[in-house]
Amino acid sequence: MDSVAGAFEAVPRVGFLPSRQRRRAAYDGPLPIGDGQTNSQPHTVRAMLELLDVRPGQRVLDVGAGSGWTTALLAHLTGRDGTVKGVELVPRIAQWGKENLDSHQMPWATIELAEPGVLGLPRQAPYDRILVSAEPPALPDELVAQLADDGRMVIPVAGVMLLVVKQGDDLQVSRHGYYRFVPLR
Ligand SMILES: C[S@@+](CC[C@H](N)C(=O)[O-])C[C@H]1O[C@@H](n2cnc3c(N)ncnc32)[C@H](O)[C@@H]1O
Repeated sequence: MDSVAGAFEAVPRVGFLPSRQRRRAAYDGPLPIGDGQTNSQPHTVRAMLELLDVRPGQRVLDVGAGSGWTTALLAHLTGRDGTVKGVELVPRIAQWGKENLDSHQMPWATIELAEPGVLGLPRQAPYDRILVSAEPPALPDELVAQLADDGRMVIPVAGVMLLVVKQGDDLQVSRHGYYRFVPLR
């Protein structure tokens, strides 16, 4: 079993769904979590985590932490020697995602409420890996600036999944299929 498959097994989606959605946990599509937002489609999350290639001990940023599921999956991949910082824009969802995460005993992973007008968590940068689960119209410079040297970011931009790899001043951007996400605001 590869490490992403292991993470899916260790961190079941059902623990990150509202009670009325739990019976649909096996459905391979996005599920509503309130405020017009969703817990992402498992197939898509799997593809994004494969691209991200998280290694044990890394420092990871999860933008659009939502239910906390991706934050917990990332925390499984980094292991306890790593750090995972989730950030979420909607206060009610941030609080609920934090409660979901806290019930999984992964103290190296946390979720914070986004500061108005601030994208990501720049004060705690740089990050070896950045996962973005909401879609901007163009690649945000603010997030690229939060990537460490040799860092990787997976982000859906204008309907296309991008893998961004930073090496010194060089930025390599590759395209990995078409996806639909809620907007990054
Ligand atoms: C697809 S949803 C949740 C994905 C989450 N990883 C999950 O599976 O539950 C994307 C989330 O991004 C949040 N979001 C949108 N813009 C954001 C921003 N600028 N900063 C942080 N979160 C943002 C939305 O509120 C929403 O909860």
